[in-house]
Amino acid sequence: MTAPESGRRSAAWFAAEGRNGFIHRSWMRNQGFGPEVFDGRPVVGIASSWSELTPCNAHLRDVAEAVKRGVWEAGGLPLEFPVMSLGETLMRPTTMLFRNLMAMEAEETIRANPLDAVVLLSGCDKTTPALLMAAASVDLPALMVTGGPMLNGKFQGRDIGSGTDVWRLSEEVRAGRMSPADLSEAEGCMSRSRGHCMTMGTASTMACLAEALGMQLPGSAAIPAVDARRYALAHAAGRRAVALAEEGLRPSHILTREAFENAIRANAALGGSTNAVVHLLALAGRVGVPLDLDDFDRLTTEVPVLVDLMPSGRFLMEDFYYAGGLPTVLRELDEAGLLHGGARTVEGTTMREATADAPCWNREVIRTTAEPFRPAGEGTVVLRGSLCPDGAVLKISAASPHLLKHRGRALVYDRVEDYIAAADDPDLPVDENTVLVVRNAGPRGYPGFPEVGNVPVPKVLLAAGVEDILRISDARMSGTGYGTCVLHVAPEAAVGGPLALVRTGDWIELDAAARRLDLDVPAEELATRAAPPAPEAPERGWAKLYTEHVMQADRGADLDFLVGRSGDAVPRHSH
Ligand code: FES
Ligand code: MG
Repeated sequence: MTAPESGRRSAAWFAAEGRNGFIHRSWMRNQGFGPEVFDGRPVVGIASSWSELTPCNAHLRDVAEAVKRGVWEAGGLPLEFPVMSLGETLMRPTTMLFRNLMAMEAEETIRANPLDAVVLLSGCDKTTPALLMAAASVDLPALMVTGGPMLNGKFQGRDIGSGTDVWRLSEEVRAGRMSPADLSEAEGCMSRSRGHCMTMGTASTMACLAEALGMQLPGSAAIPAVDARRYALAHAAGRRAVALAEEGLRPSHILTREAFENAIRANAALGGSTNAVVHLLALAGRVGVPLDLDDFDRLTTEVPVLVDLMPSGRFLMEDFYYAGGLPTVLRELDEAGLLHGGARTVEGTTMREATADAPCWNREVIRTTAEPFRPAGEGTVVLRGSLCPDGAVLKISAASPHLLKHRGRALVYDRVEDYIAAADDPDLPVDENTVLVVRNAGPRGYPGFPEVGNVPVPKVLLAAGVEDILRISDARMSGTGYGTCVLHVAPEAAVGGPLALVRTGDWIELDAAARRLDLDVPAEELATRAAPPAPEAPERGWAKLYTEHVMQADRGADLDFLVGRSGDAVPRHSH
């Protein structure tokens, strides 16, 4: 249908005459709206991934109230609606199985309704990329408000971080250095306020990258969930969303190649999550920006890690916010010639205008490019080689330096469960040189691409004081995880990648400096090996659709038919 006279999308519904206009307005008025709210003002949707099953997002209804205040104040009509929610801590087999479903559901909901702009409320890991992907594919004016991190965990007189200290403390218990009672006390000490993980895990990483991309208001990503300033920010975001509707500033105007380059470099400077690689590739596919895995390596060779945050370092998001947060990091990058300062933000400013005056209040937490926390090239690097022809990733800052150039014999597991069952076996045939291979945990194979790549170190080695061994998989790893874990091996075993052909006892060689990962088995011998049978394909439902259409890790694990965008044209009448 053609655009209404005002040019506003919502007018196709609310300015309609006759029977259809009656239907569109009358039922909305059951919520207590007077006729004046249909006077042609911009309608701002608030897409909320609130859910009590997603504890990280459980406060988003309150954030939505603050957004609404801003929308009303600026003369818009705010309408909050739920979208699918994805909670890392409860959902099985993995939230990543559903990221594309959430993106698709949100995309269709936004397009099907009388919205002129949308505010995206996210928090937990996948909710941020899913909503960005949705907004990019509708390409309606949009801005994101993430829910903010939890306060620092406090346990027995020290700070503990979400995820990172779960891995650490549970290994302490396995090694016999900590009691199960102390571990259970830590439960209440770790998650002691509303908000998402307060390490630089995937949630904090994606919140920061949404800001580095220009999609959330400058300075907002790091504000703790319970800090009053987050609600003031949400209020400002509501006001700004009304202006976005008037200006017609769309995701496609913001999500340019320069914006993605800024986000990739910001991720390196933050020591951010390996998952950011997958999510940025998928998002770039939605807006048609050419981006490939090698860009992540090429663009970050000169970018040092600037922040000392867990899992790579010591501090947490609260410290990061008080030190200045992301604007300080972006200013450091800009001053070193590592930022496209002219990239636009949803605020309407350029990235340089938004960050030029950003102070640093704590040089222990945020360093300078001259004296960084870790030197350039120690973020997430991209590996190639005979074991991963389409790439793999390794987060150097979370790995052990002595394993970065390593040759060892493989110990192979077809199912992660089989390794977990064996991990505490005192007779497990391993030593500090063993290369642990876990496969069939990729997008197609698991299915869903779970965060199992940082499998625990065998107990017999922990007891001998070996804290880390080289682990290789086609899985992902939690952004809060650490260890020398090669992840996202592509093609994955389940689609016939060379990973499927590795046998226990084979030699594997990692050379991170050379960006190589090789299986040291002659090609003639590999040709004689039959791959183990691929895992059974799901027979119905979303999992069937997903496994039939999911692309490999190097394409962001999006569904092949969701690449690109369908736009925001007003659909045909429903009555
Ligand atoms: Fe939700 Fe970490 S579990 S952000
Ligand atoms: Mg996570």
